[in-house]
Amino acid sequence: MAEPWLQARSLRRVYRRGPSEVRAVDGVDLDVARGEFLAIVGASGSGKSTLLNLLAGLDSPTGGSIRVAGQELTALDRRARASYRARRVGMVFQTFNLLVHHTALENVELALAFNGAPRRDRRARARAILARLGLVDRLDHWPGGLSGGEQQRVAIARALVKEPEVLFADEPTGNLDEDNSLQIAALLGEFNARGLTVLMVTHDLALARGSARRLVRMHYGRLAEAPAWEAP
Ligand SMILES: Nc1ncnc2c1ncn2[C@@H]1O[C@H](COP(=O)(O)OP(=O)(O)OP(=O)(O)O)[C@@H](O)[C@H]1O
Ligand SMILES: [Mg+2]
Repeated sequence: MAEPWLQARSLRRVYRRGPSEVRAVDGVDLDVARGEFLAIVGASGSGKSTLLNLLAGLDSPTGGSIRVAGQELTALDRRARASYRARRVGMVFQTFNLLVHHTALENVELALAFNGAPRRDRRARARAILARLGLVDRLDHWPGGLSGGEQQRVAIARALVKEPEVLFADEPTGNLDEDNSLQIAALLGEFNARGLTVLMVTHDLALARGSARRLVRMHYGRLAEAPAWEAP
């Protein structure tokens, strides 16, 4: 079998606070194939965000290995890691993290500034992805003038405008009502159907079941494969 697109082995992230330590990620093995839609569920504090941040290259592990397309992520220098984040990875956060003094269009366009896209292409690409996410009438709105669901769609546009290989979504529906949550999940499903690899962290088991094709459960920093029919 071909090597999976992403492969984590014995991955650990320990936070030290004085004499005590928190093993937020405690020996995780995970294989993700290209084109998968994987949901990671688990209780608050089980290490889901920590794991996602490690895989996205936002944080460095205490131990273990992460291979991406055959390359060891933990061996990359700062610059190469920044390039991995800017070009290959899209990230969506629970709290949207939009720049409040920039319009929807600017927020999306700025993602391309770090990605090496030619300046003249950036605006057109940003417009196109926002239009595709149903935001063509909202280009000039500031985040404060958008609903939660709209803000999250802008954040998704910002992550996807780079045409990343993988989307890491940390509780992308955590601040949305049920209708908007279903919309966002459907949207991620559509992009996944077109080949985008998606890793979504969520508290919402029903949402995970409805959208992801594979479910894993995090428990005290460890990961276990969870059959889709498992009881909550
Ligand atoms: N910067 C930090 N310093 C110290 N401990 C931390 C830090 N970040 C996270 N932790 C601890 O690591 C553990 C895992 O946190 P993490 O944020 O990954 O959990 P989570 O599963 O994403 O939770 P939630 O569902 O509430 O978002 C928690 O016990 C948390 O308190
Ligand atoms: Mg979290």
